[in-house]
Amino acid sequence: MADNSSRAGSSYMSREVLDWTNQTHAPHDSGLAAAFDTPAATGIPAIMVGASEGKLLTMLLKLVGARTVVEIGTLAGYSAIRMARALPADGTLITIEFDAKHAALARDNIEKAGMAKVIRVEEGRALEVLPRIAGPVDAVFIDADKGNYDHYGRWAAKNVRQGGLLLGDNSFYFGKLLGDSNEAAAMRRFHEEAREAFDTVNIPTPDGLLLGVRR
Ligand SMILES: C[S@@+](CC[C@H](N)C(=O)[O-])C[C@H]1O[C@@H](n2cnc3c(N)ncnc32)[C@H](O)[C@@H]1O
Repeated sequence: MADNSSRAGSSYMSREVLDWTNQTHAPHDSGLAAAFDTPAATGIPAIMVGASEGKLLTMLLKLVGARTVVEIGTLAGYSAIRMARALPADGTLITIEFDAKHAALARDNIEKAGMAKVIRVEEGRALEVLPRIAGPVDAVFIDADKGNYDHYGRWAAKNVRQGGLLLGDNSFYFGKLLGDSNEAAAMRRFHEEAREAFDTVNIPTPDGLLLGVRR
């Protein structure tokens, strides 16, 4: 099925336009700025979601009245803080990170952002940590370890409550979604299997965000 849009594969989004719209709709206060800026300042790759994607996560979680969220891939805590801001004061966001340096930086940023009561950083490999988390949860955000997205999607299908959300970042897999690698195949399985339990759409953010609503 060909995309009938003449804009497919191109974009009106320049750096300047993106900066302006980020600033207009998704600005950073000091808590968000610290989590966004500290990776680069401490020699950690700055591979967090963009400001608008972060704000989109906040809004989607608010729309479904989320109270419990699981995130795979913490880095410095930026997306975790964005999402936690959608939760009530007694809500819980568990974020999983296997790199001790990233986890320590994230804890520091989460504390500074005033979110330490809501966000818990679980250190370890997501495949080992997930079985220890008891569902049901309101949403799962997957943003690490692309070769295992299919496994994470299956965990989400079992543990997200009806009406809850599956969110998978980098769903275009850096433009290599249709490639020959094992990771690309896992990402395609993630897309295809997600349709079995969720109503799905792939939002064409710069690297794609798969959104599913649990049936
Ligand atoms: C893209 S970054 C996460 C960015 C974060 N979600 C944000 O937007 O602020 C991915 C993170 O996942 C971690 N990671 C990679 N593979 C992992 C795995 N198998 N289990 C847990 N964490 C993992 C990396 O160390 C890195 O910090």
